[in-house]
Formats: sequence, structure tokens, C-alpha cells
Amino acid sequence: MLKKLAFLIVLASLLLAACGTAAPAATQAPAATDAPAAAATDAPAKVYTYADMTLCYPQLGAESDWRTANTASFKETAEQLGVNLVFSDAQQKQENQISAMRTCIQQGVDVIALPPVVEDGWDAVLQEAQDAEIPVIIVDRSVSADKSMYVSHIGSDMVLEGRKAGEEMNKLLPNGGNVLEISGTTGSGAATGRAQGFRETLNANITILDSQTGNFNPTEAKPVAEAFLKKYAGEIDGFFIHNDGMAEAVVEALKAAGVKPGEIKIVSVDGTRGGFQMMIDGWVQADVECNPLLGPQVMEMALKLMNGEKIDAEVLTNETVYYPDNAAELLPTRKY
Ligand code: AHR
Repeated sequence: MLKKLAFLIVLASLLLAACGTAAPAATQAPAATDAPAAAATDAPAKVYTYADMTLCYPQLGAESDWRTANTASFKETAEQLGVNLVFSDAQQKQENQISAMRTCIQQGVDVIALPPVVEDGWDAVLQEAQDAEIPVIIVDRSVSADKSMYVSHIGSDMVLEGRKAGEEMNKLLPNGGNVLEISGTTGSGAATGRAQGFRETLNANITILDSQTGNFNPTEAKPVAEAFLKKYAGEIDGFFIHNDGMAEAVVEALKAAGVKPGEIKIVSVDGTRGGFQMMIDGWVQADVECNPLLGPQVMEMALKLMNGEKIDAEVLTNETVYYPDNAAELLPTRKY
């Protein structure tokens, strides 16, 4: 009953926000003590703990070290807090994520945390979760669905990451030049945002010769890099690569083509240990951070939802840019 009331309160605040009220966030639910439950019964409101929580996490896949770290963050945090985590791996397929969500809805989980593989196509299943009064937190990448369809988004500002990458490329190529882009999964918020931010920021004297997807996956990125090196031989000044795993594949292709570290400038994204090693070895000149360790924040928010507490409609991770000069010092401290 309390769970239902808390959900209704969150939903009501979402509707108010959607109607243009002054509320800044879609999730300004009153505190649990304001809930009308008190009127119906004099029994004190139950305060839920992590041990009461069943959290559904339909992970999108295992395409990168970033994703492995993200999965570990959820599993380890759940273990530490005593949360019952319903985990699945969709192997990059949206239909698998949707069907995992439907299973969770049938099971009556408390909260669903969804890391969407792509932005579009979530409306129907988000509606089903809403009908079942199960709040959905969007994690990591964004969705294009209306904000009233989910309670919050926790993750990175992907456009900002792309802007940072553009600024780094501008610094690396002050006299201009030609760059190639190897992007992430087509239609994903991460790839779309990074591509947008990069283009917004890049100096006019830098030309993007070509852009192809590597699907955030080193195995898929390698032939793309090889084909680029053949097609644009002698013309390439830089690469913007949407994650470190794909950058590692590009470096392999560069080595095979006889290119020396630093001859072609590389800006990558994530800040994995692999990214740090490439900076130490002179291949990558800037690595834009994207933090995968989202488990604790998501579970804290899920508990607040269960207790009818206020949450923020958008929680963006504070991120930096890493450089080769202190990469060797930082590498031992990296958690992913
Ligand atoms: O959505 C975050 C991106 O997904 C990371 O940059 C990438 O490594 C992962 O696969």
C-alpha cells in the first residue's frame, strides 16, 4: 500500500511538472511523512531499507571495459547493501532489454534501472512499468521518451563529453587538419551526444574526413580503422574515438601500418585502465572521462523512491579529462 502511495505521489508530481508548474524537477515528491497514508491509518509509515529492495537492472551488454565496470558496480553494490538485484545481459539487443523489463514488471520488482542501448523505442514498455506503478530510473545513456515516462536519469552528459573532445582536438591541431571519427552504437545517446558535442566545438580549420560506427566494440572497430588507414593514407591528423576499447583497436591498426605514437593525435573517451596505458605509451593525447560506477547512486535513489522521498529528475556525473602527463601516477588508482 505504501509503495503504491509513494509511486502515486511521484507520478502526481511528474504530471504537475509536465503541466508547466514551477517545479524544476519531475520528481519533487513530498516526503513520506506527507503521504495521505496517515489519514487512512494511524499505523506509523514503514521505512524501507535496502534489504526490502528488489531492483531490476536489464544491462545492455558487455561490449567494453566500461560496461564490465558498470555491471560490477551494480553487482558489488547490491551485494554490499543487501539489495536483491535482478540482473540480465541483453547482448546489445533492445528487444532483449524490453523483454527483461517485462519479466521484471511481471515479478513486481520495486524499481527498474534501465541503461538503454538506444534512445528511441521505449514508450510502450515505460508505459507498462508506469501502469504497474514501478518507477523507472534511466541509467547511463538517455532515452527520447517524454520525461513523464520515467522518474529520473542518472548518468553522463554525453554532449558535454563530445564538446570536451572537440576542445582537446582543437588544442592538439592548432593549425587545423583532417580527423576521422569512430563512433559508438548508432542511435545510442552516448554516440549521438558525443558526435553532436564534437561538431559543435571543433574549429573551422579541422575537417571530419569520415565517420563510421565501431559499435563501442574493439572487434568491430578494428576493420573500420584498417579501412580508414588505407583510404585516407597520408591525410590523417587525428582520430576522435568514442571509447577506449575502440581506441585500443585503432592503436593496433596504427602499429600494423607503421605509424609511430603521437604522429596521429587521438582523443578518446572513458578513462579506463586501457586508456591510461595508451596515454602512457604515447598513443592517446587526451581521454575524456565517462564514469561507469553508478551502482551506489542508483540504489540510493531507488530507496528514496520506495520511501516516497524527493529525488532529482536529472543527476549528471561530474567528469574530467585525463592527460598523459600524470597518467602513470594515476593508473594504479583507477578502479576500471
Ligand atoms: O554509454 C557509455 C558508453 O558505453 C561508454 O563510453 C562505452 O565504453 C560503453 O560501451
